[in-house]
Amino acid sequence: MFRFLAQRPEHTVQLHINDQEINVPAGSSVWAAMAVAGETTTRLSSVSEKERSAYCAMGVCFECLVEVDGVPNRQACLIEAREGMQVKRQEITQESCLPYLTPNSTEISPDEVVQVFDVQREKGASC
Ligand code: FES
Repeated sequence: MFRFLAQRPEHTVQLHINDQEINVPAGSSVWAAMAVAGETTTRLSSVSEKERSAYCAMGVCFECLVEVDGVPNRQACLIEAREGMQVKRQEITQESCLPYLTPNSTEISPDEVVQVFDVQREKGASC
């Protein structure tokens, strides 16, 4: 589907897309790297759990949310591919979020919720 013109090795970055090693030209978006790798499913719908993929490729639709270096909800179309980056398809669904979303949940304590967000903050998550 996508192919790059002649690449010069000194101008490429190597990253992992769902554990697949791939080299792309420096400056490529994570979404472009995913397309080159043939890994076009970015996430599962949090409601229907159906596969989703990038739609607008310009930061508007949020269909391209992926997990980057362990941080979820990153827009693959806006993030530049970096050396050693670990990109994974995001599999956050309504069911997997339920313990975090239910106000009176007995499955997770408020302290545990705070710990989850602290870890995400340390990794640089913006949300
Ligand atoms: S594809 Fe629309 S925001 Fe990334």
